[in-house]
Amino acid sequence: MKARDEKFKSSVGYQIYPKSFKDTDGNGVGDINGIIEKLPYLNDLGIDFIWLNPVYQSPQVDGGYDISDFYAIDEMFGSLDDLKKLIEKAHEYDIKLIMDLVVNHTSDKHPWFVESKKSKDNPYHDYYHWVDASPEKMPNNWQSFFGGSAWTYDENLEQAYFHCFAKEQPDLNWKNPKMREDIYKMIRWWLDLGIDGFRLDAISHIQKENWDFEIKSPHGNDPWEPFMNVSGIEEYMSDIKAIFDEYGALTVGEASGVQSHQAPDWTDENGYINMIFELEHNWKKSDDPNNKIYIKGYKDIIMRWQKDMLERGWNALYIENHDNPRSIDTFGDGTLDSAKALAVHYMLLRGTPFIYQGQEIGIGNFPFTDINQIDVPDSHNYYNKLIEEGDTPEEAIKKAGLTSRDNSRTPMQWSDEKEAGFTDGKPWLAVNPSYLEINAQAMLADPNSLTNLYKKLINLRHENEVIVNGDVKFFNKGDKNTIVYRRKLDDKKILVIANLSPEKQKLALEKNFKGYEELDLGQEIQREFTKKMILDPWEYRVYIKGN
Ligand code: NOJ
Repeated sequence: MKARDEKFKSSVGYQIYPKSFKDTDGNGVGDINGIIEKLPYLNDLGIDFIWLNPVYQSPQVDGGYDISDFYAIDEMFGSLDDLKKLIEKAHEYDIKLIMDLVVNHTSDKHPWFVESKKSKDNPYHDYYHWVDASPEKMPNNWQSFFGGSAWTYDENLEQAYFHCFAKEQPDLNWKNPKMREDIYKMIRWWLDLGIDGFRLDAISHIQKENWDFEIKSPHGNDPWEPFMNVSGIEEYMSDIKAIFDEYGALTVGEASGVQSHQAPDWTDENGYINMIFELEHNWKKSDDPNNKIYIKGYKDIIMRWQKDMLERGWNALYIENHDNPRSIDTFGDGTLDSAKALAVHYMLLRGTPFIYQGQEIGIGNFPFTDINQIDVPDSHNYYNKLIEEGDTPEEAIKKAGLTSRDNSRTPMQWSDEKEAGFTDGKPWLAVNPSYLEINAQAMLADPNSLTNLYKKLINLRHENEVIVNGDVKFFNKGDKNTIVYRRKLDDKKILVIANLSPEKQKLALEKNFKGYEELDLGQEIQREFTKKMILDPWEYRVYIKGN
């Protein structure tokens, strides 16, 4: 067993959605060589590791999260040799590479599933969850995350199989020890190849309740409760942890259903993984027509997670990823000023920050006008449901467009050249028309740009241990629009103030912070701290004290 490497705590991660990062062969899809080409850009940003979304062989029903061969790289991204080269080159820059580990489900085209469908006595039948059923009667009323029943009927077997995502993503049966051994073998194979760790996809769903577990009503109970961090998962997670420990792997889990008070057990020195992405904070008011994050709801959740992980455990910090619309539009008001306040408030919290490609240059949502501009299946399901319920196509695309995950999957905007410098061909998903102004080249050239602010924040984390190991205390907790916290380690203190609203806000802090100096984070003017400051829209200030 290797000693646990605590470096993940002082690291900053960068998430790459490979399909949309950089295309080098003109097929309109990003590739591994494109990532290699852009390593100098990532190195210049200052990040420490890359989380690479799936590049495995896949029919791409769900953006690569439907894997048909765990050991193969999908041709559209390149080859295994390209990946080895990426690992080697990234390591030359001292950048680590972690990959998605998708073991809750496979693609329905995976040979295991193809075999499992052949007959009830096929050796792979029990690799998945098959239960006797009829077209009229499914084993239970559980719902999939992507809408509709979590069961799909198979006429030949007169059974249904379980899937908590799309029907093309059958869930693996973790109760089967043979299946688990095959998964453990695969995990080792990738770590032996030289990757540095994993982002564990949907890991809290691998254990399910018994099939007779009743969901009372679609609105009463949480409809996904029967597969959210269900008891029994501990055994599987301990097995996985033992492998990670052998290699000293860097690990982050997507673990919805693991509550903040349970997260320390998952992520302390004896925990299964290094850190957790909580999914709670994407707090939206259901009646908000613009699909905005409700800042006070968000803030309460962040404060709770910070508090619950103060003594033990570790947070993964993020405001954007490939599963949500762009943060500049959901948290912010579409302006770069709002993106800057967002960057400052979350990058200095306690935990390991992740930056999602394009977030650092301020790419916003795509102005979708037609459902055919969207690829992702859940948006199509949602759109069709809205049409069935009587929406016009214009009304339906407005709603489905605002909430679509494809907002954040449009190509990275490198320059103001054709297709934003992403490809010489036709991009698989249209480039956001904002690229003429919003692109990496322009951002890097402007010293006060959002991108350069991210660089400063990354550097600040690297140079100040207080941001890594200091405690965190919030002030003005009840305020709806501002976030104020102080990080403290021995005599060193950092005070962070951000107005997360497009209006002026008056601070009424309960404490005066004396002897702090302002850090220059590219604002036009410096401002001395007072506890009753009136903050401009999206204003942010960072003050520092001590050595
Ligand atoms: C979470 C991933 O982030 C998401 O993109 C995917 O659709 C589901 N897990 C299923 O793998």
